Amino acid sequence: MEEVIKIKGGKLLNGTIRVSGAKNATVALIPAAVLAYGKVKIVGIPNISDVNSLKDILEYMDVKVTTPNVDEIVIDTTNMENKPLVIDAVSKLRASYYFMGALLGKYKHVVIRMPGGCNLGPRPIDLHIKGFEALGAKIEYDNGNYILTADELTGANIYLDFASVGATINILMAAVYAKGRTLIENAAREPEIIDCINLLNKMGARIRGGGTSTIVIDGVEKLDGCFHEIIPDRIEAGTYIILAAAMGEHVIIENVIPYHLDSLLSKLKEIGVNITFSFDQVEIYKTDTPYECTNVKTMPFPGYATDLQAPLTALLTQAIGNSKITETIYSERFKHCQELNKMGANIILGPASATVVGPTKLTGGNVKATDLRCGAALVVAGLIAEGTTTIHDIYHIDRGYEDIVAKLSALGADIYRENI
Ligand code: EPU
Repeated sequence: MEEVIKIKGGKLLNGTIRVSGAKNATVALIPAAVLAYGKVKIVGIPNISDVNSLKDILEYMDVKVTTPNVDEIVIDTTNMENKPLVIDAVSKLRASYYFMGALLGKYKHVVIRMPGGCNLGPRPIDLHIKGFEALGAKIEYDNGNYILTADELTGANIYLDFASVGATINILMAAVYAKGRTLIENAAREPEIIDCINLLNKMGARIRGGGTSTIVIDGVEKLDGCFHEIIPDRIEAGTYIILAAAMGEHVIIENVIPYHLDSLLSKLKEIGVNITFSFDQVEIYKTDTPYECTNVKTMPFPGYATDLQAPLTALLTQAIGNSKITETIYSERFKHCQELNKMGANIILGPASATVVGPTKLTGGNVKATDLRCGAALVVAGLIAEGTTTIHDIYHIDRGYEDIVAKLSALGADIYRENI
């Protein structure tokens, strides 16, 4: 038996959709909370399977996890034990690697299995490792497990060869308990990093420069509990904005920080989407003028997000002309193109790039979510397509989109889950 998502395409969407808390912030905030010696309460937790995997990891370490409400979590480390993280939950998501920085910072010793996550081509963690070494840690790799140890951690100047989201967050988690000052140069600037820094500072850390390329961390002795609300998920918001651009008559997307989506909003305006935004919402109206093609290059924030590349590619199959998509983050992140081509798209792959020849008619069929954002692209395509689209391997979608079927049904989409 396999659970699939089925979509009968071609229906116009109307109504309001509310964006959940940011997945890629949540998956950093939960490991960050174990640095505290008090209770950390986080609200705005999305109901996604990555969060369940992180809860499993916490509970394995005897951390008390309570959920006063569905979107809240209270993390209490009073009885926490730094056990070797060689359990299956670690392999279910990429972000389990944040326990490296957090546990190294707190206990100066970590044993952890290689992290999992979407298969987007090579995803090394050499920059994380170099950062930990610069702080004084020794790293061994044995039979699929990393072993990190330090007598003590000392602040250092760390230059990242690439502005990596994961390396920036991981290094700053280890550095909060290091002696003296750590400087991360060429740090990533994604909003999720600022959110993580805000949490750590509320816990008592001394971190400045979040959102810029230079982050300064002055080590402290002890972090306490705090209360924190997660930022909205800019990638979930962007996916719904794209999907509304494809099939919306009048769709309002709430709980958005438009500044986080500047690059997407300007691309959509460029191709002719009728879109307006205010303080915390975006509105999309149907237009009768066909969309024009465009060129997109993915880049670290504030550039166009790689996580919104696949959904936009699905929309561009409907635009007139050749759109060139270039990936500078994950050169192999194009598996969705093969699935879209099965539905009638005409996408030609090149080195780290794809050319979408549009417009093409899309027709439903059997397709596979090869990773999370491929899944999102197939939902967009399924809503556009004539006939029924059956999406397989939907566990990828459930890792990152809360209640996607319910949220889209509320807009009038004909979408449902089925066991086949
Ligand atoms: N990189 C290295 N060495 C490293 C770290 C990264 O070469 O030590 C390279 C990667 O191979 C990649 C680039 O640097 O080519 C960017 O990687 P980054 O470290 O920024 O990505 P990440 O932290 O592994 C996060 C998100 C991804 C998102 C990227 C880019 C989480 C849990 N994941 O990954 O999200 O695509 O940043 O913005 O926050 C998704 O949500 O679908 C997803 C894949």
